[in-house]
Amino acid sequence: MSFLHVSKFCQQGGRCFQPTSRNTCIRILSPAFLGSASYVDWRQPWLVDNNRRWYSHENGGYQKKPSLWKWGLGLVGSLGVVGSALYWKISHQKLHAAEVEAGVLKTGLPTYVRTDVAKHKTAESRIWVTYRNGVYDITDYVSEHPGGNKILLGAGAAIDPFWEMYGVHKQAEIFAMLEKYRIGNITEVEEKKEADKKDPYGNDPKRHPALKPASEKPFNAEPPPSLLIHSYLTPNDLFFIRNHLPVPVIDPKTFSLQVAVEKENGGAKLSLDDLKSKFPKKSVTTTIQCSGNRRSEMIKIKSVKGLNWGIAAISTAEWSGVTLDAILKHSGIDIDKVDCKHVQFEGMDKGPDGATYGASIPIEIARSLKNEIIVAYKMNGKDIPRDHGYPLRIIIPGIVGARQVKWLNKIVLSKEESSSHWQQRDYKGFNSSIDWHNVDFSKAQAIQELPIVSAICEPAEGEMLEDAEEVTIKGYAWSGGGRGIYRVDVSADGGKTWHEADLNSNNQSPYKAWAWTLWEATVPLPKSSKNTQLICKAIDSSYNCQPDSVEGIWNLRGVLSNAWHRVSVTIPNDQR
Ligand code: MTE
Repeated sequence: MSFLHVSKFCQQGGRCFQPTSRNTCIRILSPAFLGSASYVDWRQPWLVDNNRRWYSHENGGYQKKPSLWKWGLGLVGSLGVVGSALYWKISHQKLHAAEVEAGVLKTGLPTYVRTDVAKHKTAESRIWVTYRNGVYDITDYVSEHPGGNKILLGAGAAIDPFWEMYGVHKQAEIFAMLEKYRIGNITEVEEKKEADKKDPYGNDPKRHPALKPASEKPFNAEPPPSLLIHSYLTPNDLFFIRNHLPVPVIDPKTFSLQVAVEKENGGAKLSLDDLKSKFPKKSVTTTIQCSGNRRSEMIKIKSVKGLNWGIAAISTAEWSGVTLDAILKHSGIDIDKVDCKHVQFEGMDKGPDGATYGASIPIEIARSLKNEIIVAYKMNGKDIPRDHGYPLRIIIPGIVGARQVKWLNKIVLSKEESSSHWQQRDYKGFNSSIDWHNVDFSKAQAIQELPIVSAICEPAEGEMLEDAEEVTIKGYAWSGGGRGIYRVDVSADGGKTWHEADLNSNNQSPYKAWAWTLWEATVPLPKSSKNTQLICKAIDSSYNCQPDSVEGIWNLRGVLSNAWHRVSVTIPNDQR
């Protein structure tokens, strides 16, 4: 069941996984935590059946040996959270559950509130989770199935969002097993709190609990890196969020998009229905990266102004909507002939002074990408979630996230750049000697295309490895301007020796690669040390490479942080 699910999920990004051998498979599975993968008996017919399903979809985009099938297993290991492992345990115990619904209110049990549950995140304090109205103490389950820590993503909180997303769980047997750990009820599960009328952020949407906030108001958050690379397309709920202002409440019935050339009559006003019904729908898969991604590495050199982003202020989705070219033509504007230098985009999110978020791109970029830039109303096949711009946002492939305006309601072609704060006095690069006392934002160019970047998403910084001989390293690589990834080099000995990673570019052309390349490499560990540094660096289709250290690229806003990514790990003690 769970394998079938993994297979389906991974295909969303056009990638499939193939087992190379059962032994490898079992070895890799064993450390996974609370996933069916941890405890698989490969002789079970249901697994063989699911295996066949894997083989029947061999259109994956890996350019080298297909060892990345393991990623799918990792997904089960991590995000099936409790469900998949429970499934295994049940089948081995020959547990025959009656039809059971998990999480219904049970009389005679204590009642807890979410803040009680939130106090129980570690083995010392006991690990609690909730599902619907149920509270569960899974500490004993966790201690009996060691080998990973991903269940802790749900510790002290609800597992419902994980189960909704990666659902391997809605079976009576799994519900029955979960109920064994039941300790109480939680009452306010479905309670909707009245928005605080005085709080400008009171109407912000609910977010997925796995997102790690960099700030609450405005809300900015990134997914855990290990979840980021589990699927080529980032699930909408886990897509990183970068908001500068409260999320606007927009009525789709009265909403309209205005399109015009500045200071000229004409143009058009389009409703959401017009956009959906009068134009052909175009889809494009792009990676969006905040220019502050990996800022935390710059902060270590010298303080900078900006959110302390880790390596996951980057995500990938398939966006669908109408091309900029079609919208402009409909509005009577010929982008190739119009006497303008910039295309401005304005959002509907407002600051206390009434100013809205806005940005612009040079007309040359708009011209060359006129059939790739889309006014999107769908994200991964669903209405764009409120945090990501509902009902409309502009998608500009290969360009920094800051220009991809959410809650878009105006497109204006103009002689001048957008006058918005975020175009004029933010999202620009400076050399390392410029600081706040001598900075002149008017002299620097606004960031548009982003430079080559890559990062290691697994293992995590400080992790104790499971194997003393070799390590499997996984991550992403991406470059702006549609430049694909030619190579990702990986080192497990601090940069003395390098190995090429296997790449999954989702079959993009290297000259029109709007989305990232996921990669994986299994490399030998140094024989004589207990600690080592894992490093990755990528090369794009212009043979651009990443700088080796962050010192030389430090800048006061902490943007464009793309040095080699380094992760320190501990090698388990065998003969060392
Ligand atoms: N658009 C509006 N209207 N308001 C914003 O705050 N943030 C920008 C961009 N578009 C922003 C916006 C920035 S800096 C980034 S990195 C991306 O949206 C983030 O998009 P996401 O939140 O969908 O990941």
